[in-house]
Amino acid sequence: MKIGFIGVGKMASAIISGIKQTEHEIIISGSSLMRSQEIAKNLGLKAASSHQELVEQVDLVILGIKPQIVETVLSELDIKKPIMSMAAGITLDRLAQLTDSSLPLIRIMPNMNAQILQSTTGICYNPHVSDDLKTTIRQITDSFGTTFELAEKDFDTFTALAGSSPAYIYLFIEAMAKAGVKNGLTKAQSLDIVTQTVMASAQNLMTSEDNLHVLIDKICSPGGTTIAGLMNLEKNGLTHSVVSAIDATIDKAKKM
Ligand SMILES: NC(=O)c1ccc[n+]([C@@H]2O[C@H](COP(=O)([O-])OP(=O)(O)OC[C@H]3O[C@@H](n4cnc5c(N)ncnc54)[C@H](OP(=O)(O)O)[C@@H]3O)[C@@H](O)[C@H]2O)c1
Repeated sequence: MKIGFIGVGKMASAIISGIKQTEHEIIISGSSLMRSQEIAKNLGLKAASSHQELVEQVDLVILGIKPQIVETVLSELDIKKPIMSMAAGITLDRLAQLTDSSLPLIRIMPNMNAQILQSTTGICYNPHVSDDLKTTIRQITDSFGTTFELAEKDFDTFTALAGSSPAYIYLFIEAMAKAGVKNGLTKAQSLDIVTQTVMASAQNLMTSEDNLHVLIDKICSPGGTTIAGLMNLEKNGLTHSVVSAIDATIDKAKKM
């Protein structure tokens, strides 16, 4: 399949690193011809001379542009090919309004872990996407991580839990590392220790037969250090703070 990217920034570049490992061919079109040529050279790809020229050549158009400019970009194009959008908050209905309601339309929500081919990617389709096309699309999204098919009504929640959450997880890691520094470790030591612990804890959770609560209980000795820390986290409202941040993310996605 020949795949055309319109807009190649941080996320599209990350995704492209996975797709390059498949047999699919990639062509790109950026914010200007000069930018397209520059990005194509950096990524070892071909650049189209315009968005419309790209559209004519490809079997699938992937939109890597920001949600705020999707309408402007699509209004200037005549697309008769399947379109995949990663734009936060842009629904399949909205895409159909901006293009052609008979086109196969695919919405994805990847995350930045696509950079290491471990994106957690949400996906949904409109009814015009055939089973064959779905199989190819899944092959594409699996090339840069793990794909979760979900109802579109849950996309904003997925955006918060997977698209945005790496930033929240980094903030948590940074806070833990700061605590290490406050108590005498260097920042580099603290970051290494916390990052390794977060990674192994997630792996343990994924592979263990124990559920989350059993894993927590195993670390909390009666009258020990961990339960004292846990109580302090909840006294300061960790769960409430996290849920509130996820709600704020969902609210923002709904308003895009
Ligand atoms: N970043 C994330 O973690 C994340 C997660 C999930 C989904 N997404 C979605 O991914 C999409 C891209 O986000 P991003 O973080 O990759 O943003 P980004 O790095 O700013 O990329 C956007 C790209 O679009 C280009 N562009 C601007 N105007 C254009 C036009 N008229 N035609 C073609 N290209 C144009 C920009 O080019 P210039 O650099 O030349 O201006 C830039 O390279 C968004 O819709 C976002 O919702 C992002």
